[in-house]
Amino acid sequence: MSFLQDMLAKGQSLLKFSVPVNSVVGIDIGTSAIKIVQVKRDGGKIKLETYGEIGLGTYASDKSGKVVTLAPDVIGKAVADLLREANVTTKNAVLSIQSQATLIFLLELPEVKESELATLIPNEARKYIPVPLTEVSLDWYVVPKQETYQDEGSSTDPKLMRKKNEVVVVAVRNETLAQYREISDKSGIVSRGNEIEIFSAIRSVFHREITPTMVIDYGAGTTKVSIVEYGVVRAYHVINRGSAFTSESLARTMGIDFDKAEEIKKTVGLVGGANDAKTAEAITTDTAYIISEIQTILLGYERQSHKAVTKIILCGGGAMMPGFLEKVTETFGVETIYGDPFDKAEAPQFMEQVLKKAGPEFTVAMGLALKDFV
Ligand SMILES: Nc1ncnc2c1ncn2[C@@H]1O[C@H](COP(=O)(O)OP(=O)(O)OP(=O)(O)O)[C@@H](O)[C@H]1O
Ligand SMILES: [Mg+2]
Repeated sequence: MSFLQDMLAKGQSLLKFSVPVNSVVGIDIGTSAIKIVQVKRDGGKIKLETYGEIGLGTYASDKSGKVVTLAPDVIGKAVADLLREANVTTKNAVLSIQSQATLIFLLELPEVKESELATLIPNEARKYIPVPLTEVSLDWYVVPKQETYQDEGSSTDPKLMRKKNEVVVVAVRNETLAQYREISDKSGIVSRGNEIEIFSAIRSVFHREITPTMVIDYGAGTTKVSIVEYGVVRAYHVINRGSAFTSESLARTMGIDFDKAEEIKKTVGLVGGANDAKTAEAITTDTAYIISEIQTILLGYERQSHKAVTKIILCGGGAMMPGFLEKVTETFGVETIYGDPFDKAEAPQFMEQVLKKAGPEFTVAMGLALKDFV
């Protein structure tokens, strides 16, 4: 089974794992923190068993919340620590692959037989991949014709369907895959597969949206922006700036330490008011950059597809900054909501508010945990 194949396809598995299990833990290895969610299948329902988070900064003898680069064995240890602390009871795990380690693109190919795609796609994909093909693992997903066809508002007559193949292609460096294998080995889990984080996020926050919907994962190190139509990723970009950057620049501007800057970012955010003009300015400048990058992606998509983005779903810890949702809503004039991944699993009623608040940060971890079940 191709490792990538099941991470494609509308955020759902193309291929189910061969041995069904009841409990799975999703492990999201972010640049600043690891997040995990364990769920179990109980009859027809999915129940939340546990969830938790651990900062990676301390594993690099640095501050919690900082973006750090760690060796696979250190990450493996951090995963093991978190699994223990969160009382995870299963070894069955699905791990995220960070977006910056991947390339995702859409190819338009002439209509050929399925068997010919295996030759055609690597040839075409070569143009998008800056390293030799021998250094990457490639996989792809042929977008079902009806979906594009419905998008285009034509009739349902199969004879009128488009005469081209649209293929979502993903490429991951073999070196990266080897690192993830080492992380799995060192953390003592049994890996049921990897998934590029964006596909997990989509599974986690989507319900029945069919019109173009933008998902923004505002993490600590990067901001992942994707536009999804009929469950298929149509546009995808990584902005090389995340929320930790704001804390760093705030600390510099204000002459305060990183921890204090993190606190100000989380409590004051974009709604600092007149008393905090300097703080507000430092935060606003960074946010303005992220927003303008998002705008470029959105306008580019709308220009090319002649379709409007109708909804924005926010996830990632950075999106929880006070005033960010309002700023996005005001800038784009589009319905903007927070992703609510925990609503995909049953949990005790009294936890509802806590889970809603924590949701954006656990979007990827929940999507990974659900991979085998939905
Ligand atoms: N309430 C909040 N307001 C502002 N920022 C917040 C809030 N809560 C968390 N953050 C920020 O969110 C970031 C962590 O988010 P997240 O866990 O999604 O990142 P990550 O997955 O480690 O990073 P990446 O996705 O870039 O690899 C940190 O920079 C943190 O300061
Ligand atoms: Mg993340």
